[in-house]
Amino acid sequence: MKILSIETSCDETAAAVVENKRGEFNACSNVVSSQIKIHAQYGGIVPEVAARLHIEKIILIINQTLKDAKMTLDNIDYIAVCAGPGLISSLMVGVETAKALAFACKKPLIKINHLEGHLLSFLSDKTPARQIRFPAIGLVVSGGHTQLILVKNYLDYKLIGETCDDAAGETFDKAAKILGLGYPGGPAISACAEKVQSSPFENLRVTKDAFFVMLRLSKHDKKRITDYGLRISLPRPMLHSNDFDFSFAGLKTAVLYAWNDFQKRRKATELSRLRPLMAKEIQQAIIDVLIAKTLKAATKFKAKTIILGGGVTANEELRRQFIKKTDLKKIKLVLPSIPMTGDNAVMIGVAAHFHAKAKNFVSPFKLRANPEWELT
Ligand code: KG4
Ligand code: ZN
Repeated sequence: MKILSIETSCDETAAAVVENKRGEFNACSNVVSSQIKIHAQYGGIVPEVAARLHIEKIILIINQTLKDAKMTLDNIDYIAVCAGPGLISSLMVGVETAKALAFACKKPLIKINHLEGHLLSFLSDKTPARQIRFPAIGLVVSGGHTQLILVKNYLDYKLIGETCDDAAGETFDKAAKILGLGYPGGPAISACAEKVQSSPFENLRVTKDAFFVMLRLSKHDKKRITDYGLRISLPRPMLHSNDFDFSFAGLKTAVLYAWNDFQKRRKATELSRLRPLMAKEIQQAIIDVLIAKTLKAATKFKAKTIILGGGVTANEELRRQFIKKTDLKKIKLVLPSIPMTGDNAVMIGVAAHFHAKAKNFVSPFKLRANPEWELT
């Protein structure tokens, strides 16, 4: 079964050919054209610009993906397209193109929810679908969504929690803007956080003891311990709330106030030392809440697997800490490879495979892009 899949929900124009051989997915081709450099000039995505660029690129990208897969449309069994959620003007480009192709080539058409794509993106890396034991808890964290999903089986999902305000990725983006780190914020915050040198005294608070040890340290180590001593503490909103929802708007506001205050009171040289500490604390605050809530959901629903997906799961520190915590709890963790975390069409083709098997087809005359399409 070969599926031509299309994804244009935000600022990536993407197409892929995905096939399934004995339960394993294989991307015969995968083409992604990112508009990120253009939107970065404006500090965020400009929907009209995104749609115009999708229109310019979509046919070229589909042709390229067929060429890379050494196929023509005759070799394709199904056409799949992301029909929401996302930016309406961006979604429409992919949806209308897929409708025209399906009608002209007489191929069954499948509509895919973007969040289901992210949720199943771990399968893009040849993880056999049968390896997953259910029930599973899925955490989808992207620029627009932060959702916890109870996965009883493929195609059987229940939303159990989501953000009440900003998404985790959006918080990275907004916090990066406050710190003057540019767009997109996630990679910028994590790169900045890495500049904080870890203290050789991770477990020591900066007390008299540490100071004592400090007397015998090199200049370099003294700087490290002083960095460590400059602790910045941000809130972990809803960390202990009695549900599986999230809230990140308060964290963003706390970053804004703290940074404004630093800017008033500190010299430029101090700010450049504070920025990485602030970035590290923002990243850790988000990670703490995501991990705590996911593990709490896994315990409540007796999950056998935790599934991660979405752009934020490219965050190396988040991945490391999730692996460590799930190892301790002896729960299986599956996550996409880094190239599969962001928007791509392979994840749309993977999800479409399950819908094709269930014969969930849609008429090209009826399909409409739905910017607010909820998965469950
Ligand atoms: O899934 P995605 O590519 O697009 C949406 O569906 O929204 O996610 C984009 C989001 C952005 O907010 C971006 O800042 C975030 O994912 N992101 C990261 C990292 N790479 C991308 N967040 C944290 N750490 C990263 N390394
Ligand atoms: Zn996405």
